[in-house]
Amino acid sequence: MTQPIHRRTLLRAGMSVAGAAALTSCTARRSSAAFVAPDGDEVRAAEARRNPGAVREFRLTAVAAPVDLGGPTVATWSYDAAVPGRPIRVSAGDVVRATVLNRLPEHTTVHWHGLALRNDADGVPDVTQRHSEPGAEHVYEFTAVNPGTFWFHPHAGLQLDRGLYAPLIVEDPHEPLAYDDEWVVVVDDWLDGVDGRTPETEYAELRTGAGGMMGGHRMGAGSSPLLGGDAGDVRYPHFLLNGRVPAAPASYRGRPGTRLRLRLVNAGGDTAFRVALSGHRMTVTHADGFPIEPIDTDTLLIGMGERYDALVTLADGVFALVALAEGKEAIAMGLVRTGSGAVPAPTVRPAELDRKIISYHQLRPTEAVLLPPRGPDRTVRLALTGGMMGYDWAFNNRRYDPTSLIPIRAGERVRLSLVNTTMMWHPVHLHGHTFALGDTGVRKDTAIVLPGQNVTATFDADNPGRWMVHCHNIYHAEGGMMTLLGYQK
Ligand code: C2O
Ligand code: CU
Repeated sequence: MTQPIHRRTLLRAGMSVAGAAALTSCTARRSSAAFVAPDGDEVRAAEARRNPGAVREFRLTAVAAPVDLGGPTVATWSYDAAVPGRPIRVSAGDVVRATVLNRLPEHTTVHWHGLALRNDADGVPDVTQRHSEPGAEHVYEFTAVNPGTFWFHPHAGLQLDRGLYAPLIVEDPHEPLAYDDEWVVVVDDWLDGVDGRTPETEYAELRTGAGGMMGGHRMGAGSSPLLGGDAGDVRYPHFLLNGRVPAAPASYRGRPGTRLRLRLVNAGGDTAFRVALSGHRMTVTHADGFPIEPIDTDTLLIGMGERYDALVTLADGVFALVALAEGKEAIAMGLVRTGSGAVPAPTVRPAELDRKIISYHQLRPTEAVLLPPRGPDRTVRLALTGGMMGYDWAFNNRRYDPTSLIPIRAGERVRLSLVNTTMMWHPVHLHGHTFALGDTGVRKDTAIVLPGQNVTATFDADNPGRWMVHCHNIYHAEGGMMTLLGYQK
């Protein structure tokens, strides 16, 4: 993908002149100089307060190379030619120092999804860093303060919908959960390198389809009552669990009776998944890395960017862990093997998928992560706007502009009021903070907002910098549904 010229120009000019591009609007946007700089004193002070611990070194190389998905071999982009990339695993309080070498034919960045990290390590091009050009190395260094299940991916164009993603697990040195083993499970929708398609060709089609002969009525890729209708824009030939198609599934092998912690991550570009383990119920313990009061369920829905941790006590046999591509009538699948038994067909649909499913309303944060009660100091209304017709996804009808920031202040309690005026669902993600969702206050960094729905996401402004809010449907984000919050100086 090639960046539009104006973005490149901006990049060269650097952030020092961004102040010249002062913009005002109904959201009272201010010039860039009025906001805390991503590497400013306030950011350094906040990092020092995290008590940086031992430095852990990691190396990643973003490469264009073939990857075997368990049958189909695709030409794609990945970290070190693996999909998902090797997990990064540290202990809470450790400092992650990740050196990323860019061997891609275009620029890239890495974003560490869900972490309350120092702003200049957040990986947002033109905002928190300059792009890494091909051949360049970029070092990301940040304290991982909260334990939990996180992940990382590029924040450049549509690169996320290739194979550039991997889990980031922050272990709790005082882990309160009792379990025997864990399995990190990353689900994804896949089109790159199959039949000549790339995320860029798909995006171009979505945009031309928008103005095309069908009068703008390109049909969605499927429909789901759980998602309030249109499930997605993109048809994918494959759905992957830990980088494998269902015909050649990834497996967890263990003993019956094992208490297994599943760490589920949705790395998809345009697909929500309904996840269940055949023959088992799950006890969900964490949402987006933060603890909840444990709740039993047969299945759960996971939007792009979301994570859930769940405990299962394994029965004896061979079981399918199925991620149904919601509304798209296809599955990703993995196997749990604790004994002998027939391997389930790659089209299996466990009964659990149609039993009890939990909703956000049933999730309660644990006492330890409940935001203390207090009214908001500031409410930021973000209307989710646009549609398939013009492929003009945006917040408040304004397409993303990296020089335009919505002001907030350190110490405030900020309430994002997310008002979905569109005909589609959107998984909305906030960088650098974990908000309290709606009335229950469950802590999350990404939340599904259904068509016509209003949702509040409340957070304490305790991490100075410039932070993105965006839809985690990568095609919607690229279309313009991204914005920035800036801590005022
Ligand atoms: Cu995983 Cu800005 O996102
Ligand atoms: Cu969206």
